[in-house]
Formats: sequence, structure tokens, C-alpha cells
Amino acid sequence: MRNHFHDVLCLSEVKGMDINMNKENHIQNYLQEQGISQELISQVEEFRKMYEVDPLVEERIADPEMPFYGKDTLEIAITAILQGENLLLSGGKATGKNVLCETLSWIFGRPAYDISFHVNTDSASLIGTDTFRNNEVQLRKGPVYQCAEFGGFGILDEINMAKNDAVSVLHATLDHRRRIDVPGYNRILLHPAARFIGTMNQGYAGTRELNEALVSRFLVVDMPKLDEETLTFLLRKRFPDMKQEALTQFAGLFLDLQRKADNGEISTKSLDLRGLIAGIKTIRSGLSPAKAVRIGILNKSFDAFEKEIQEDVANTRIPRSWTRADVFELLPASDPRFDSAKLNQG
Ligand SMILES: Nc1ncnc2c1ncn2[C@@H]1O[C@H](COP(=O)(O)OP(=O)(O)O)[C@@H](O)[C@H]1O
Ligand SMILES: [Mg+2]
Repeated sequence: MRNHFHDVLCLSEVKGMDINMNKENHIQNYLQEQGISQELISQVEEFRKMYEVDPLVEERIADPEMPFYGKDTLEIAITAILQGENLLLSGGKATGKNVLCETLSWIFGRPAYDISFHVNTDSASLIGTDTFRNNEVQLRKGPVYQCAEFGGFGILDEINMAKNDAVSVLHATLDHRRRIDVPGYNRILLHPAARFIGTMNQGYAGTRELNEALVSRFLVVDMPKLDEETLTFLLRKRFPDMKQEALTQFAGLFLDLQRKADNGEISTKSLDLRGLIAGIKTIRSGLSPAKAVRIGILNKSFDAFEKEIQEDVANTRIPRSWTRADVFELLPASDPRFDSAKLNQG
């Protein structure tokens, strides 16, 4: 019998299918735009079809606002994951390590488990701790355990911040044994879709040398430094209404600082794309562009000598007389590019 309820049900099923189709298309378009081969795209699709996701953790599948940009790195990461390998992304600040992790979770359709490493990270915080519940001792599952169960992508963020012995508990998890040993409980095997992706900033304050035994369990990807093309692309995506001249100068400022850092004239403290983007956003609210680059990037250095060099670069790129009108086109509210909610987002 057809009734209203039945119709509604069908409609929502169709809607669900639509959303899935849209998502599939979106992923496919993105991979094609990046220049990934059709063969690889098909393999990613097969992977998605092969492994279902428990609805309990569906919300953990990432949906990056702006996916990773960079064909070679993406291709390496995709092939490694298809072959069941774990990845270690190594590179400077703001080279898109976390964006790449999110992008991989999205294209492979796997729930992401963000696990931030710090000096106090220990095996219990990774795998689980005993708790007393219902009159018995039970395991409160940690993120690595859950990732193993649900076939997630475990993001071992800034893995070189942790002490090596804390990470050694993951050795059996990360190599061909693919299992977790929880003292006092059964060992569990990793779901076939589970992968681990470590990220590390080399030589950052507080980081340690990773030991060889750990590194040997990953394929290591050197994250490339931002270049002009990528930088221009990313800024344009983030600020569609930015005037071309301003965009050229902001990108130029970043690249000038990068060159000076490469030559050892300054440190890498101000090479912070996240900071640059955050700074540029304040221009929308009326802060002068010159001040915006100071709070966004330049003030991250506290060394007077270094600051002076940076000031010179900034003054030639971003004149102090500039106002918001020099940076943004003032769009009428009807312009399709004007979406204030989106434009102001992180
Ligand atoms: N290749 C890239 N593709 C997309 N975004 C990037 C890329 N490189 C840097 N970014 C941008 O840089 C900022 C920092 O990225 P994030 O992934 O957090 O860097 P990391 O983890 O390497 O420090 C984000 O705003 C991101 O959009
Ligand atoms: Mg990061």
C-alpha cells in the first residue's frame, strides 16, 4: 500500500542516493583536476566500494573545505594507501600535511582519528585504559584501538613530539603484523582498511629524532615547500574577491621571506601560510593590510635583527597606505562570489 509515509521514505532514500552520487562526483572531479590517472581513480573507487563504513563513525569521514593541492604528493600518498602502507608526512610548517590527511580520509571514505602527540603521550592514551564500569574492569578504548576496529585512518599528528618508548607500543600495529596487543586483553587485528598517517615537522622546538625502527614502518613523503603556483592557487581559492595586484604581492611577500629563510638570513618562523590567511581575513573587518601581515606572520619572530629584515620586505610588498579597498573588490551582495559565511570561514 502506498501511503504518505512510504513516499517520504522513498524520497529520503532517493535524496540519500543523490548525496552519495554528488559526493562521488565531487571526489572524481577533484582527482581529475589534480591530474590523477583514471586508472588510479578507479582503484580508489573500488577501495571505497569494498569497505563499508559503520554508520556509528560515518561523521568522522573528513570533508575538507579546501582539499590538498599538489599532484605528485597526492599520487604518492594514494598509491601507498592502496598498497596497504602507512605514510609519514615530513615537511615544514604549513606544507599541507594535515590537509592531505583530511583529503585522504575524504577520497578513500574512511573515518579519521586525530591523535595529537606530545611529551606526555603514553601507550594507554593511544590504545586504552582500564576503567571500572558495571562492577568490572573494562577497557576504555583509545583512538588507535577504535581506528583499528572501524578501519579508520589514524592521524598520528606530530609523531616526533612523543617519547620514543611511547610510540614503540605501535610497532606491531604499524608493521605486517597489523595487530594491537593490549596487556591483559585479547590482541586485536586491524580492520583491512585501517591505515596510519604520521606527520612531523622537522627540527621544530620540542621535536625528537624518530628512531629507525619506527621510521622503517612507514613510507616517507617529503612534503614540498609552497611554490608560487600553489600559493597563488590557494590564496585565490580562499579569497576569490581579492584584487590580482594584492594577491601577487601577498604571494610575493611569502616567497621573499621563504627565499631569505633558505639563505639563512632569517628563521622560518614567519613562513606560516595559516597565519598569512588569518591575517588577510582581518582586512575584511577593516584592519590595514600592513598591520594584517604583521599580526599574521611578521610578529611571530621576536628577534630584532630578523624583524628588521622582514619589515623591509613587507614595506616593499604591502605599502602602508593600502586599505581594504586595495585588497578586496567590493562586491555587490548579489555577486555569486559573495558568500559572507564562506568568505569569513577559517
Ligand atoms: N598543498 C596544499 N594544499 C592545500 N592547502 C595547503 C597546502 N599547503 C598549505 N596549505 C594551507 O596551509 C595551511 C596549513 O595547512 P596544514 O595542513 O595545517 O599544514 P601543516 O599540517 O603542514 O602544518 C592551511 O590553511 C592549508 O589550507
Ligand atoms: Mg599540522
